[in-house]
Amino acid sequence: MFEIKNLNASIQDKQILKDFNLKVNPGEVHAIMGPNGSGKSTLAHVCAGREEYEISSGSVGLDGINLLDLEPEERAVRGLFLAFQYPVEIPGVASMTFLKSALSAHYKFNGKKELTIPEFMKLIKEKSNSLNISDDMIKRPLNVGFSGGEKKRNEVLQMTLLEPKICILDETDSGLDIDALRLVANGVNLLRSKERSFVVITHYQRLLDYIEPDFVHIMADGKIIETGDKNLALDLEKTGYNDYIEKDI
Ligand SMILES: Nc1ncnc2c1ncn2[C@@H]1O[C@H](COP(=O)(O)OP(=O)(O)O)[C@@H](O)[C@H]1O
Ligand SMILES: [Mg+2]
Repeated sequence: MFEIKNLNASIQDKQILKDFNLKVNPGEVHAIMGPNGSGKSTLAHVCAGREEYEISSGSVGLDGINLLDLEPEERAVRGLFLAFQYPVEIPGVASMTFLKSALSAHYKFNGKKELTIPEFMKLIKEKSNSLNISDDMIKRPLNVGFSGGEKKRNEVLQMTLLEPKICILDETDSGLDIDALRLVANGVNLLRSKERSFVVITHYQRLLDYIEPDFVHIMADGKIIETGDKNLALDLEKTGYNDYIEKDI
């Protein structure tokens, strides 16, 4: 189970997350929506372990372990996966090399025998074929010169290979075109299972046409102010955020 408890975080002395709470059971898909500046990306960054945030209290638990006590790499091998709106570019490192070392770290941590190069090549071929990813793309440096759609494809490939327990996707405000949205949604839907959960952060309802969430949360001013099912996202589309925010005040 993934559980965020009373999380308070600030950046440059400005408090962004204010007693934030969220509980995600295995197999569930939660969507977090909210106006710009409500702290959605901050939440994802804090979970990822980005250094610039000051965490004054709270915990981010995955199966009873507080991820905040761990280095980012250890969070990943324990089953946390984050997909960002703007994936990092790593010049000089081919996507394939990056994927191989990420996968090796996971196997090592879980006491599994490391794949040989031919085994890895076979696995990556299988997975990339299922996602329409070309051999050429995975030989290129990670994300460098990738189009938006290619970055997303690569991210979904990573997610598929690493088989995380909890995936947090920050798709806020991104200028993703409809094909890229579908790609992300297909990846999520393919990976949905009883053991795996997702937190999908999105500014627009559109993505939720393709990924049907079990719960929808509205976030404003650093915390969740309303929770509902997928109909909440549809209502939001009609009314906008203000109705909910005013109600909260
Ligand atoms: N590096 C930063 N320095 C100062 N303030 C920041 C920084 N990053 C984010 N913020 C502020 O934190 C608040 C929340 O931002 P963010 O988490 O990106 O919101 P959202 O993703 O919901 O739009 C905003 O008021 C933003 O201006
Ligand atoms: Mg954001």
